[in-house]
Amino acid sequence: MEENPIVCDCNEVCKSLIIERITDKKLTTVYQVGIELKAGTGCGGCQTDIQNILDELNN
Ligand code: FES
Repeated sequence: MEENPIVCDCNEVCKSLIIERITDKKLTTVYQVGIELKAGTGCGGCQTDIQNILDELNN
């Protein structure tokens, strides 16, 4: 597996950027990540992956 994969193909948002933004701004929802980075706002197919990242960081 790539170290820094693209999580959201629609908007080309990589995993490290999502992690950084969740941490910096203390985001707790997929919706908030969408507002910040547009990740998850296209086809929606990556929303589960974004949720998993949120769960890992915030659990
Ligand atoms: S892959 Fe993220 S919204 Fe489509």
